[in-house]
Amino acid sequence: MKIMEIEGGKDLSGTIRISGAKNATVALIPAAILSDEEATICNIPEITDTEALCDILSYLNVDVKRASESIIINPSNMKNIEIKEEFSKKLRASYYFMGALLGKYKKAVMYFPGGCSIGARPIDLHLKGFEALGAIVKNEKNKYIVEADELHGANIYLDIASVGATINIMLAAVKAKGITVIDNAAKEPEIVNVATFLNNMGAKITGAGTSTIKIEGVDYLHKCFHEVIPDRIEAGTYIIIGALCGNPLKIDNVIPEHIDALLSKLEEMGVDLEVGADYVITSKNKNYISTNIKTAVYPGFPTDLQQPFTVLQTQCNGKSKTTETIFENRFMHVPYLKELGADVEIKNQTATILGPSTLKGSQVVATDLRAGASMVAAGLKAEGTTTITNAEHILRGYEQIIEKLTNVGAKINIKEI
Ligand code: EPZ
Repeated sequence: MKIMEIEGGKDLSGTIRISGAKNATVALIPAAILSDEEATICNIPEITDTEALCDILSYLNVDVKRASESIIINPSNMKNIEIKEEFSKKLRASYYFMGALLGKYKKAVMYFPGGCSIGARPIDLHLKGFEALGAIVKNEKNKYIVEADELHGANIYLDIASVGATINIMLAAVKAKGITVIDNAAKEPEIVNVATFLNNMGAKITGAGTSTIKIEGVDYLHKCFHEVIPDRIEAGTYIIIGALCGNPLKIDNVIPEHIDALLSKLEEMGVDLEVGADYVITSKNKNYISTNIKTAVYPGFPTDLQQPFTVLQTQCNGKSKTTETIFENRFMHVPYLKELGADVEIKNQTATILGPSTLKGSQVVATDLRAGASMVAAGLKAEGTTTITNAEHILRGYEQIIEKLTNVGAKINIKEI
């Protein structure tokens, strides 16, 4: 287990450069096996989720070459074998191998873990999409066997604009015979990045980024080169940290349009923001206006920034509210925020935060990736020392977080115990 230790209360100034998006990367790596040649992807973040997916590629006998932040994936000699639970349980996004293997071989056999800490996170919509394309899905406990004699185009309506289901169905449909239309598709930028990757290989996908995506099946997917978009959630996390501790803090390699909802809420709160073409500069302030958020699918306020944002709400004058509408259990950071001195009460899916609170260092736990990020933000703000156990969760989604924060003046370290 890893423990992160932060000596908080320090001003942070300088520049943090944003890495490639985790939630694009974890789909692009499985998608690469659909190529009939090789795929080169650059700006891949060196995070533990990337490692876990590369382990699965190697297990499938896919040739993987890693350079500094790029990866060359050649599936010419790969084997379509059952993906064991020891691999698939390392991260939920392993489910993208289901869509990719089904799309390439018309068969996928893999174990897939149920929910995780933030919610049940079923995959019924993924499976419904596979069945619409002509697959038969068998589920023996946690083992899924998905296979089709032939994959054909279909009109698929998603009851929920699910990011994972949208991408997984796209992966399964790129080589299906005929046209597939996904209605009520999710519109996240990561989906556009994956569709662009597949089109770079020769796929015929239109409408990504809108709620209607059309995929015309093709027979062959050729060699391609692709770049991962900057991580909007990493960017948002560091911008929030800048609003807590910046003096000033520049966040570089950002696509501001991808975090419009966050930037609007920060402006409403009275955060000092300079937004450039590909950067954001922010500084801490004493008088923040109480501000409410409600998470929603893109382009609404992202659920992945809800937990870090509640840390900022503890510094507002008066009552702020956060309502979580995407996942049923995404307030597990709140007891630890209270341990640090915040005044937060939860009722149903809404947290009410009274501020401003003086945060004081204490011992807390990272219950999941973004809860861990919220503990980093709170620890940097808090007076005194904060220790975060289960800090390995944080390394799943924040490349070089210790180096990036140390370089702008934070006193932070991580150790294995
Ligand atoms: C993706 O998860 C992200 N993960 C999540 O980020 C993010 O919070 C989420 O999208 C929402 O934006 C990756 O991209 C790897 P969903 P995903 O399918 O695809 C329900 C992070 O911290 N649902 O859009 O799993 C589901 O339970 C992670 O980086 C079904 O009911 O999210 C949830 O309540 C956390 N049936 C809602 O839909 C399904 O078949 C949205 O889930 C699929 C989803």
